[in-house]
Amino acid sequence: MTSTGANTAPHVPVLVNEVVAALAIHGGETAVDGTFGAGGYTRAMLSAGAGRVIGFDRDPDAIEAGRSLVPDPRLTLVEERFSHMDRVLAERGIGLVDAIALDIGVSSMQLDRAERGFSFQADGPLDMRMSRSGMTAAEFLNSAEEAEIARVLRDYGEEPRARAIARAIVAARPVERTAELAAIVRRAGGYRPGQKSDPATRTFQAIRIHLNAELEELEEGLEAAERALKPGGRLAVVTFHSLEDRIVKRFFRERSGATPAGSRHRPEIMDPIEPTFERVAKPVAASERELAANPRARSARLRSAVRTAAPARSHNTRERLQ
Ligand SMILES: C[S@@+](CC[C@H](N)C(=O)[O-])C[C@H]1O[C@@H](n2cnc3c(N)ncnc32)[C@H](O)[C@@H]1O
Repeated sequence: MTSTGANTAPHVPVLVNEVVAALAIHGGETAVDGTFGAGGYTRAMLSAGAGRVIGFDRDPDAIEAGRSLVPDPRLTLVEERFSHMDRVLAERGIGLVDAIALDIGVSSMQLDRAERGFSFQADGPLDMRMSRSGMTAAEFLNSAEEAEIARVLRDYGEEPRARAIARAIVAARPVERTAELAAIVRRAGGYRPGQKSDPATRTFQAIRIHLNAELEELEEGLEAAERALKPGGRLAVVTFHSLEDRIVKRFFRERSGATPAGSRHRPEIMDPIEPTFERVAKPVAASERELAANPRARSARLRSAVRTAAPARSHNTRERLQ
């Protein structure tokens, strides 16, 4: 699944047929792949007849590799976070789009490269930065207070032994390598070889989510998609754990209901707000067949909906600051 060999895919896309069905691309339409990765969704969008695909990724390596992975004149690659997609689309004169897909998390390419520091399976520096900028995992673990590390492990890894693991990390400082961190976590987390779930999985996930502000990005990305879609445009989002899925579920629930909000002038009178999304589909999980071929699809959930003509409820950051 994760080989980078010349004849094998560098990342097996998850729920790709289901995503393409939800996006319902008509010939010539413009689509956004907010998480280009190894281009699996982009290729599927192009095969479905998209006239243009804008592929975003915050990882410069993904953008660099993408040019040869998907050599198609209909593809524009942009190194940027998906939370800024509406601004980028406006700046480039592309305007509103017909379909948007987000596939949250890390790619096999990122996990496979030990020097990126995302994986505890191979030893590498504790980096974990998707954009290759900002604080590294080593800088965070070697400078944060024990309580802050424990909070991150609990909030983003749902780690029951967060405090014990945070204490062990602080006692072992400086921690510089992924293998060192995995060994510390296994000792403090009471891991026995052969045990089903390795506590290092939760700690690595938690630190990665924190450093890359992944949950905030997802929230802002959904709002950016709301601003970037045409009326009738489709949004499909694939997540890999319950923290992310909850955010998407709540977003679609809020945006598809006529949630009343207090009027600015007379807060006691509720102004109905028009739904910005409709036709919210039931969550979709991977089929038995896909699971047999790709165990990474185990926790994947797809949620999708269709944009209405109502004005977006959120404003972009620049407008918010003015
Ligand atoms: C699960 S992979 C996507 C795989 C892709 N669907 C495919 O089929 O090859 C997620 C990708 O999204 C990128 N990514 C994660 N968060 C992002 C964000 N906020 N903005 C842009 N790209 C992001 C990661 O760098 C990674 O390359």
